[in-house]
Amino acid sequence: MNDMTTIDRTQRPYSAAAQAFLARKPALFINNEWVASSQDALIEVEDPSSGKIIGHVVDASDKDVDRAVAAARAAFDDGRWSNLPPMVRERIMIRLADLIEANADELAELEAIDNGKPKGMAGAVDVPGAASHIRFMAGWASKLNGEVIQPYSMPNGTVFGYTKKEPVGVCAQIVPWNFPLLMACLKIAPALAAGCTTVLKPAEQTSLTALRLADLIAEAGFPAGVVNVITGNGHTAGDRMVKHPDVDKVAFTGSTEIGKLINKNATDTLKRVTLELGGKSPVVVMPDVDVAVTAAGAAGAIFFNSGQVCVAGSRLYAHRSVFDQVIEGVAATAPFWAPRASLDPEAHMGPLVSKEQFERVMGYIEAGKRDGASVAMGGDAAAADGGYYVNPTVLVDVNPQMSVVREEIFGPVVVAQRFDDIDEVAREANNTCYGLGAGVWTKDVATMHKLAAKIKAGTVWGNCHAVIDTALPFGGFKESGLGREQGRQGIESYLETKTVIVQL
Ligand code: NAI
Ligand code: MG
Repeated sequence: MNDMTTIDRTQRPYSAAAQAFLARKPALFINNEWVASSQDALIEVEDPSSGKIIGHVVDASDKDVDRAVAAARAAFDDGRWSNLPPMVRERIMIRLADLIEANADELAELEAIDNGKPKGMAGAVDVPGAASHIRFMAGWASKLNGEVIQPYSMPNGTVFGYTKKEPVGVCAQIVPWNFPLLMACLKIAPALAAGCTTVLKPAEQTSLTALRLADLIAEAGFPAGVVNVITGNGHTAGDRMVKHPDVDKVAFTGSTEIGKLINKNATDTLKRVTLELGGKSPVVVMPDVDVAVTAAGAAGAIFFNSGQVCVAGSRLYAHRSVFDQVIEGVAATAPFWAPRASLDPEAHMGPLVSKEQFERVMGYIEAGKRDGASVAMGGDAAAADGGYYVNPTVLVDVNPQMSVVREEIFGPVVVAQRFDDIDEVAREANNTCYGLGAGVWTKDVATMHKLAAKIKAGTVWGNCHAVIDTALPFGGFKESGLGREQGRQGIESYLETKTVIVQL
């Protein structure tokens, strides 16, 4: 499918609100104020739809990080947040969710021009999802109770024992570039509900919406120092946050490689650590499916957000009897997923986030071809005057030894393989160091539950993919992570249990 001559990938003009935001002086958000960095270093902000530099953000120094951590530490230690009535904490959080919704259009645009995702997608998924995480977690602020427990070895009435749930303290929260605002809110929401304070660092590629969120945090009425937003590079500012002795907990979403490093670096002070990392999620298609519906679902599982999704369905396993039809069905979605500039109202898929990511993904496609894979769809970059567009790609004739089958590509590239029975496909689905998500497509309930039991993954979807809800726990088996976010479990990692034992 060659669309090169038909699609104009020129980025559309920015709104006045976005232009005004981009023109602001780069600054850090500490103690509810915009402050200058201790150094002059800046990071360029690039629009991946055009490859143009559109602004700058601060590259925070060690001193800046220390200042933000000190603000969060003071705000935690004097109880200005954790000692507020839960009802008040909840109300302030809900005000933040309201403000996100009130500014939804601007946030969606900023996300689109910073990350490259279609503005329509950001408006339909990222922004409402961000508000939803905050609303859901706000309700927990008033429901974090301990228990009264009768001791096992002592006579009744001689000892009074109970537990309390207390906030873990100061958090360092580091998020990636694929869902910047959504990840930022997913991180701060449970921390705030628990009574923690935080320093949030967005990814160096996509800082804009976290900075805009900081405005809204001040407007919502959070006390100073409760949420601080630091922009900067991972190996400098991020590293400083992780190793900082005044930080009690680290929450990270990003690559497995950096997740492992962070886990090591957090060990010296035994920080609490939660990690949401990479994946190579299988999509299993049984022979009884409606092929057209399933093929469209399998295409969405990998092409949504240009495949830059931790749970992207990047390994497609279709039963031998339907394999060819499924591949044809996926390939038929090419016009729908053809990459376009992020502010093009017709866009369903945008460019990749950066030149680095573009080169990484194209490198994988080339490696796949060299290793003997055949291209059933795409397999190339899309023509554009600047910008990082990769055509939606399906590789067939692959085997489990190829890098395209083993490694997380994080782009719109799926490898497709045949299988004959469910034991075989379960074995292949689990033939990976990852265990984040999996999709199973079948009308047979028994097969669905058998595969759900066999596949080692934090989430298994039936006849859908990447459906995420803030009430349902999310996280990885194996090298896909540590701990769970969202739901009741999501807040536990921001709490310490204190046991009180009183002799009567
Ligand atoms: P990364 O893991 O290096 O970056 C994610 C975040 O971690 C950013 O905020 C970054 O500043 C921070 N960071 C980097 N090094 C750090 C360090 N030493 N200490 C503390 N923080 C640090 O991911 P990157 O380099 O942007 O992407 C590389 C690959 O990682 C992608 O191709 C993709 O495969 C995977 N990835 C997975 C994500 C997921 O959601 N599971 C999200 C982003 C990337
Ligand atoms: Mg990196």
